[in-house]
Amino acid sequence: MQAEIIVLPGDGIGPEVTAAAVQVLRAVGQRYGHSFHFTEKLIGGAAIDATGEPLPADTLAAARAADAVLLGAVGGPKWSDPGAKVRPEQGLLAIRKALGLYANLRPVKPHSAALGASPIKPHLLTGVDLLVVRELTGGIYFGRKERHGDRASDLCEYTVAEIERTIRRACTLARARRGHVTSVDKANVLETSRLWREVATRVVQQEFADVRLEHQLVDSMAMHLLAKPREYDVIVTENMFGDILTDEASMLAGSLGLLPSASLGEGRVGLYEPIHGSAPDIAGRGIANPYATILSAAMLLRHSLELESEARCIEKAVDGALGAGVFTADLAPAGRGVSTQTATAAVLEQLELECQPVAMRD
Ligand code: IPM
Ligand code: MG
Repeated sequence: MQAEIIVLPGDGIGPEVTAAAVQVLRAVGQRYGHSFHFTEKLIGGAAIDATGEPLPADTLAAARAADAVLLGAVGGPKWSDPGAKVRPEQGLLAIRKALGLYANLRPVKPHSAALGASPIKPHLLTGVDLLVVRELTGGIYFGRKERHGDRASDLCEYTVAEIERTIRRACTLARARRGHVTSVDKANVLETSRLWREVATRVVQQEFADVRLEHQLVDSMAMHLLAKPREYDVIVTENMFGDILTDEASMLAGSLGLLPSASLGEGRVGLYEPIHGSAPDIAGRGIANPYATILSAAMLLRHSLELESEARCIEKAVDGALGAGVFTADLAPAGRGVSTQTATAAVLEQLELECQPVAMRD
């Protein structure tokens, strides 16, 4: 197949990790006989420096016309003046919103070889396999922001339709897994959460009778996620709760550098990015963990290009690299991490072992 993939390296370690993922996609393309075409565009701080805007019109137009978008990370100290009118993060929020990518999928499945990197006791981690579905284009992130004298406010708003589509997406994904959805809210305090809970209950009752729905308050969810992570299958929640809970969940896997994500809407084009940020402290040193972005590329193959076996082949290759103990600094004992390129080379080597070459397929 042919596919047009827009690459948005962004800031900090973004260019390093996207370059790694592109290498892996090229190798998979070659192996399976696909022609992936990559076009780089600007976003975030890099775009502000070049054009004055965090999401230039030409980047958005290219993304709209593409099959998929692969993104590194945005932001950094250079652009983080709290008084700044234009910020790198606005570019990321704007592209999610403009492409209608309301469902952000963040799978968490700790690898047995990396259990030692997690601060959680290993016996709590074996068998953990959960998927957070984070609502991505609503809530407090997008409500009206105001500042008057010594007051500031951020409005948190949700409509029934926004909640319905997110719950439907979570339930559909749960059906292909263990059929269990935990909807997370703060319904004892927030009106948006009461609406969220009401809508979740109705949608599941009316449309997903085979799915087991449970409600959980976000504060206790934060605790249960560490105390009994194995009990969760699909966790669905609003934008900011999902942002916070997934950074927490990354500690189950051992590092923020291992968690990929897919942001999906109703159309084919999706946005794929690691859940980590631009890590300015290690940027440019060639030591960033590329696995989260490589795993995001696997999600891209699965969700935007419907290339399931190719996606699995990347996931198995990353599994293999982790299993072989190829750890970057975030996973390795102090002073013992390998470079981004060494980790990427290990994945490429595993691809050779894990993927059926073109000639062997019918
Ligand atoms: C994420 C990030 C972003 C978010 C930031 C960079 C705006 O933390 O993707 O989780 O809050 O959504
Ligand atoms: Mg985040």
